[in-house]
Amino acid sequence: MTTSTAAPDIRVDDLLDEGGSDSMAENVRAGLAAEPKQLPPWCLYDERGSALFDRITELPEYYPTRCERAILNRYAPEIVASTGAEELLELGSGVASKTRALLYAMAGAGTLRRYVPFDVDATVVERSAEELTTLYPGLAVHGVVGDFERHIEDLPEPAGRRLVAFLGGTIGNLGPPERAEMLARLRSLLRPDDRLLLGADLVKDPSVIVAAYDDSRGMTRTFTANALRVLNRELGADFELDAFEPFARWDEAHQRVELGLLARSAQRVRFAGLDGLEVAFAAGEKLLTEISSKFTRARLEHELVEAGFRLERLLSDEDDLFSVSVAVPEEAR
Ligand code: SAH
Ligand code: TRP
Repeated sequence: MTTSTAAPDIRVDDLLDEGGSDSMAENVRAGLAAEPKQLPPWCLYDERGSALFDRITELPEYYPTRCERAILNRYAPEIVASTGAEELLELGSGVASKTRALLYAMAGAGTLRRYVPFDVDATVVERSAEELTTLYPGLAVHGVVGDFERHIEDLPEPAGRRLVAFLGGTIGNLGPPERAEMLARLRSLLRPDDRLLLGADLVKDPSVIVAAYDDSRGMTRTFTANALRVLNRELGADFELDAFEPFARWDEAHQRVELGLLARSAQRVRFAGLDGLEVAFAAGEKLLTEISSKFTRARLEHELVEAGFRLERLLSDEDDLFSVSVAVPEEAR
């Protein structure tokens, strides 16, 4: 038997294709009508945005990636041995650089069958599919391009025991009600032998947090400002890029970082792709691009339990900056 010359086993489904662009535009329309104005995540993560984010993860100030990688490198073999996982489903997979520790452990245990990366950005899904099938010959990759708040129900049938990974602190990018919904949706996706791996950032000295989201090289500012270019291109908007100032601030009351853009002066922006919608910004008005919530252990456990999980292990790095939870679906009550 030889598989080395066979075409790699890759399939990518694009769920955004199906009426996606309409609902994406409607997401923007709704966000611009909200108070404060806010943008959906796909505005940050186009091909350029994903590449910029990848550079953020390499910054010395951006501790989440470094810490989560250390946790996964250290515990992946144990996690894989205790779950016998055959398939890794990853939501918001991005460039999937930390995922390799999990795939490596699954390959080592002899159980690795399939990787299912799921992301709004098609370029990262396609690229990671190619890279990982080269790295692990025989690995099947079934990529999905979609919105994890809308398309989780349309995922492929599991190919075996599943590890569902939601890493990078992305859970913290959702507000409390959306987070509860997301965790409940994840719970309903899991069968009894499956496990959830949830990466979440921990509460700590705010100056450490702010430095990670307002880095000295201005990478985060460039990443945030990219959302305006995406809107100009995708929705025919006429944002003047210099007319908005990126910001990141710690919101003590909500224990989260708020990221976005401030209008430098009063102005109007027109969206040809939203039937010519005109949006007025007051001087200093903010346009939110993201929140990044930080958690205590108690809060994480509470939210997991509320969603129908039992917290099996809560792993963290040496300095206790970041966490990875291993959660088990509880029997329906
Ligand atoms: N898991 C990677 C990337 C984290 S950044 C890491 O830990 O480094 C967040 C990722 O989630 C990005 O790749 C982004 O494109 C994706 N994403 C954000 N919102 C999404 C949504 N609603 N649906 C699907 N993917 C989303
Ligand atoms: N999931 C990442 C986080 O919360 C996303 C992120 C990191 C981000 N840096 C950012 C989002 C800057 C917007 C702007 O850590």
